[in-house]
Parts: sequence; C-alpha cells; structure tokens
Amino acid sequence: MADLSTRLGPLSLANPVIAASSEFTMTERGIRACVDAGAGAVVAKSVNENPAAARQLDIARYALLDGDFAQRPWSSPQRGDSLFNQSGLAQVPLDDWLAMLDRCERYARTRDCRVIGSITVAEPGPAAEIARAMAEVTSAVEINLSAPHGREVTGAVRQLSSAEAVGEYTAAVRAAVACPLIVKLTGQTTDVVALAQQALANGADAVSMIGRFQGFVPDLDTQRPVLGSWGAIGGSWTLPLSLYWVSKSHLALPAGFPIIGTNGARDGDDVLRFLLSGATAVQLASAVLARGPGVLAQAVSRLHAYLDEHGIDRVGDLVGRAARAARSYAELDQTDPSERSRPWELFLTD
Ligand SMILES: Cc1cc2nc3c(=O)[nH]c(=O)nc-3n(C[C@H](O)[C@H](O)[C@H](O)COP(=O)(O)O)c2cc1C
Repeated sequence: MADLSTRLGPLSLANPVIAASSEFTMTERGIRACVDAGAGAVVAKSVNENPAAARQLDIARYALLDGDFAQRPWSSPQRGDSLFNQSGLAQVPLDDWLAMLDRCERYARTRDCRVIGSITVAEPGPAAEIARAMAEVTSAVEINLSAPHGREVTGAVRQLSSAEAVGEYTAAVRAAVACPLIVKLTGQTTDVVALAQQALANGADAVSMIGRFQGFVPDLDTQRPVLGSWGAIGGSWTLPLSLYWVSKSHLALPAGFPIIGTNGARDGDDVLRFLLSGATAVQLASAVLARGPGVLAQAVSRLHAYLDEHGIDRVGDLVGRAARAARSYAELDQTDPSERSRPWELFLTD
C-alpha cells in the first residue's frame, strides 16, 4: 500500500484527507465520526470571543442546490450539489469547548488522527488569547480569516481581504502560540498568493485556501431569495477557482510550504485534483454535511487505489505535478491550423 502520510510543517498526518470546520465538527459526536471515518485530521468548528458571532447560529439556514440552483431535498443529495447557507460559531463556553477538544484530541490520537482547533477571527488580540489556550489541547490551530459571512455581520467575524491585515492577524497569533499554525485565506480578494506570502512572512506554518464566497440566489417560484437573504456558497463550480489559487501559490511560494486545499472537493478524485495542483492536504465540509462522514473514508480509499494503479509509492510525489506542468499563455505553442477546433462555427451558416 502506498504511503499517504503528509506534513503540514511540523505536523505529520497519516493521510491528507481532512474534515473541514463546519457544523458537522461542532460536537464531540461529529468530530469522533470524522475520526472514525479515517480522516488524517479534523478541524473543529470555529469559535471566537464575540457572542454576536455565536448568536448568528440562531438565524442560520441551510439549503442544498442542484446544478440549476434549484433546491434539492436533503434526503437525496448529489455529488455536484452546492451548499448555500448562513452560519454562526459554536455556542459553547470556551472552557467547555476546550475540554471537549481535549477529549477529541486524545481520542483522535488513538486512531492516528489529529484535531485542529479553529478560530474565525473578530479582533486579533482575543484571537491570540484563544489560540494560546487551544494550543494546549489540540495538535494545531487554524485561524480562519476567510469568513464570507463577515460581509454581512461586520465585526462579529471578519473576512480579511488585504495582505496587510492577514500579516497583522497572523503575527498576533504566532506571537501567542508555538504550535503548528494554519491560516485560512479568502478567495474574495484580488491576489490570494499575496495573502499567502504575508501569512508565511508572519509565521504561518501552512495556509488553507480558499474560503467560500457570499452568494445570492433568487427562487424562480417565489421570486424571493433562497434563505431569505445572502449566504455562503460553494460547490463543484468553485473547484477550478480554488485549484487556480492553489496552483499559483504552489509555484510562487517556497518549495515545500504546505498549502491545504478547500472549497469544492466532493470526493477522492477532487482530493487528487487538489494534490496535483499543489495542495499537501485537502479539507472537505459540504460533502460531509450533505452526504455524511463516509465521504472521508471513500476519499482515503480512492487515494490508495489511484496510487496503486499509477505505481506511485508516496502521495507526496503527486503534489504539484499538474501545476508544474502548466505553461504560461506566452509559452503555449501556436496550434496547427488544421488541428484548430472552433466548434461554435457549426452554428454559423453562410
Ligand atoms: C455550514 C458550514 C459552516 C462552516 N463553518 C466554518 C467555520 O466555522 N470555520 C471555518 O473556518 N470554516 C467554516 N466553513 C468552511 C469550510 O471549512 C470549508 O472551508 C468550505 O466549506 C469549503 O469547503 P467545501 O467545498 O468542502 O465545503 C463552513 C462551511 C459550511 C458549509
């Protein structure tokens, strides 16, 4: 069997399939279910210091959308669906939350898995204080600077789209913790590579990219917005956008700096696509919420099968292969006119 182990800086994982932070990882039961499914790590639901962020959970609604952006019943989820939702942070007092993370980390270690604590930031100082306490009980801390809902609930959670702000928050948390520090970056910005460079320059051990986007979906029957408002959206359509920034970051950042892919991975094939683009691990949330933690087990099996089929011994050998094979537009050869395919000409009649 191929070696699936991977490294996120100082943190070693048995495999690169990670359960991402979401409502599924908001309870001990949910985290343990992801551990039992064979994830390499589980990122717990985020917390922060602001009660308004936790209260947002009370208004949160969740819709599954099919490829035509029509609502799909939760009883029949499909691989390509998008999850469209509002969200809030965990509503558990911090001491109780840390005690729960401690139990989960101990359990995870018996299964060769690790728990990563998560903070969706509001202010940098309190984020650093929470991270300091979290680092006592979890294998790593992820600070989420990408919260799409930060566009609707100013101050309670933040979406940081400037490199300067990413640097400021990363430095504040880095000064407080010695544990592996992961910085989760938004894609709702002009240059994700620049954000990643600032995270690295200020002490991040790894970055995850890219957070989901805020969206708006009118319902054609009611002529009102699905969910009654705006919400965060991901899905199949975001996968190439996420892979764009992972591949560009892989080529731009120092060799070996760990990039965790997130946003759009539906299964093991998409995990492979993230790895080939330059990710060293991949987080899945929507697929777990819509189709259950079995998707994590299936993804791990798919990695084993793919590596065996291709005679590859170590999953690390895949990382960035496709990104490094990409040529710039300037390097693309001129296509032989006889081989040029211009299929739309079928619609043009003389
Ligand atoms: C319902 C829901 C809640 C989420 N809550 C958090 C959170 O608290 N903290 C965080 O960092 N990311 C959160 N995320 C983002 C996910 O961790 C993940 O990065 C994102 O959904 C993209 O991955 P996916 O395509 O696998 O869903 C949430 C996502 C969903 C769908």
